[in-house]
Amino acid sequence: MSGYTPIRILPSEGIEVLDQTLLPHEERYLRLETVAAVAEAIRSLRVRGAPLLGVTGACGMAIAGEERGAGPEALAQAAAELRATRPTAVDLGAMIDEALAAAGEAGGEGERQAALWVFAERALARQRERDAALARHGRELPGLEGAVLTHCNTGGLATGGEGTALAVIAEAWRAGRIERCYATETRPLLQGARLTMWELGALGIPGTLLPDTAAASLIASGQVSAVITGADRIAANGDGANKVGTYGLAAVAARHGVPFYLAAPLSTFDANTPSGEAIPIEFRGEDEVGGFGDDRWSPDGGGVYNPAFDVTPAELIAGIVCESGVLRPPYGPAIAALTR
Ligand code: MRU
Repeated sequence: MSGYTPIRILPSEGIEVLDQTLLPHEERYLRLETVAAVAEAIRSLRVRGAPLLGVTGACGMAIAGEERGAGPEALAQAAAELRATRPTAVDLGAMIDEALAAAGEAGGEGERQAALWVFAERALARQRERDAALARHGRELPGLEGAVLTHCNTGGLATGGEGTALAVIAEAWRAGRIERCYATETRPLLQGARLTMWELGALGIPGTLLPDTAAASLIASGQVSAVITGADRIAANGDGANKVGTYGLAAVAARHGVPFYLAAPLSTFDANTPSGEAIPIEFRGEDEVGGFGDDRWSPDGGGVYNPAFDVTPAELIAGIVCESGVLRPPYGPAIAALTR
């Protein structure tokens, strides 16, 4: 970590989350003590990034136990509310299910509440360990030399630990293998411009920001040796959903012989989803396109197409880094073995 953490767990009370919608201008923590407040923070991307959504989901269940009681019906209702906030990242639903299981194994009401907090703290600690292992495996990836390109935000802000793709980049930087990280702006919510550039600065890694529309010509120019991003859900065959625009980067990278990698913990793999076609894609509102925040630059009412994610077919992915190592195609058998 680089002196900031996106989440603080306050057992029996609630959580504090760094409001990522305010970055990089303001570092403000919000205290969340109700399921509704956690759901709002997730929906508004105050907390975001697949692994951090998982941790936040676990915390939301512990908060539900305090706020509504830890009986099976109250917990099931809270689980449904939290799960409905963002459909693509599999970590969210998976951690909620694990929290329910942890509560189910405990005895009375007080024990279930305590078990939910213990699980939430364990989920965050486990994420930190996974990030560190993943980064170590990823730093020797072929092509991670000179300058790399990444998309969206995959640092500590997105996981609560070191991050995924950005943690790999940081390890390769510390090993002296890379000199620069190109970061796409990531319209419409600007996670690259606001968050990745901020994290690169905190890590001391030279960063270069580019409009999303400039990525194809940058790759074609031969100035990046690899493209590496995170993922929100990796299907059983290796197809991977990530921030919208990732598919285009992978396709252009393949066209120019540049390796494209995904970095994600095993919690992001979904053996129950056979291929990318079955991954639920979140579509977001009109307000996010044609402007940013209160600043509008397009006439409203014209309709928008605003998917938050797209799916990169496995055939375009040169390798998937996880805490167990680097998976190579064909991904099906390796994913089946690791998620069994
Ligand atoms: O909509 P966001 O900001 O939650 O999207 C985040 C991403 O797409 C990340 O690349 C992904 O969650 C991996 S985070 C380590």
